[in-house]
Amino acid sequence: MAAETLARHLARRILMDGPLSVAAFMAEALGHPRFGYYMRRDPFGVSGDFTTAPEISQMFGELVGLWCVDSWARLGGPAPFHLVELGPGRGTLMQDALRAASVVPAFRQAVQVHLVETSPTLRERQRQTLSQTPGGAVQWHDRLEDVPEGPTLLIANEFFDALPVRQVQKTGHGWFERLVDLDPAGTEEEPRFRFVLEAFGSSGARLVPDRLREAPEGSVVEVSPASQAVARTIGARLAAHPGAAVAIDYGHAVGPAVGDTLQALRRHAYAPVLESPGEADLTAHVDFATIAAAAREGGAEAFGPVEQGEWLVRLGIRQRAQILEKSASPAQAADIRGALARLIEPAQMGTLFKVLALTSPGLGPPAGFETP
Ligand SMILES: C[S@@+](CC[C@H](N)C(=O)[O-])C[C@H]1O[C@@H](n2cnc3c(N)ncnc32)[C@H](O)[C@@H]1O
Repeated sequence: MAAETLARHLARRILMDGPLSVAAFMAEALGHPRFGYYMRRDPFGVSGDFTTAPEISQMFGELVGLWCVDSWARLGGPAPFHLVELGPGRGTLMQDALRAASVVPAFRQAVQVHLVETSPTLRERQRQTLSQTPGGAVQWHDRLEDVPEGPTLLIANEFFDALPVRQVQKTGHGWFERLVDLDPAGTEEEPRFRFVLEAFGSSGARLVPDRLREAPEGSVVEVSPASQAVARTIGARLAAHPGAAVAIDYGHAVGPAVGDTLQALRRHAYAPVLESPGEADLTAHVDFATIAAAAREGGAEAFGPVEQGEWLVRLGIRQRAQILEKSASPAQAADIRGALARLIEPAQMGTLFKVLALTSPGLGPPAGFETP
């Protein structure tokens, strides 16, 4: 018998249960306990598949750390409090944030770090990264719900874009959910997959937001019930305990939009999304307005989203770059300027990436979210 692969596992699932929703395919491709993309590898950096903001420059995590210190002070400096990161990757952001936050010793003494991470490989990597960082034991959790109750600051960078989306498509006969089925061109040994539409349009039609119902034929709409559930949980936590959260991701600000944004990245290049499940990163644009609405339903207030470049500039990234440049060699100074440009320039990450803040009711806008 041929060795098990994710593709063969998915093929058997489809034979047994019928075509999978795009969300089920994405959840398996990223999170299958044995074959899921994140479960067995460290995908970051030049030798991996993609690079994230904290991996580009220490300045990113440092400013997020100072944002946390400022938010903590606005909460009245609760001690102890939980600093939670969803999907911490290599742990780089948390390492840089804690180092920057050590300018306020009371923050460092009060902080209890919680990492919500499903991948054993990345948990190990985070353990290594944070082993030298002063500031108490780190606790890991599978789900945000498992983090103990109490005052909370929460960070999520490029977390929501990895949560599964469902897709629906408008046809001449109405809205139908897009599903992933076996492609007859594949074999038992080497299964292939293709998109099909559900047969009778029962569940798909329900997913379409009212204002998009009249979209033209062929339109695709994405919804992420998984993201909405996490946002509602954050909202409920912030309603029950003092706190603030910041979610940074790439996506659209104006609410559910028409468009198929599901993409696969492998070795820094786009790949066909259904081609090699478990071997490529799969992401979709984050719908910030819907996440904000879900968090409000949970009881929190929402601010933004603000474009990443604008937010980092408001927090002082240009000044931080100048300080770092002062003690840098010419080559290092060029790297710092290059990293600054990547993080804030509109043609790079500056406008595509956006930042949403969620807070306990009545706190007012956190740093970087004040309307000018
Ligand atoms: C694109 S990476 C971002 C990593 C990091 N925040 C950064 O900016 O470098 C996504 C992270 O979320 C984790 N992840 C994905 N789905 C998850 C889930 N459902 N629950 C918890 N962590 C998840 C991945 O293992 C990974 O650490």
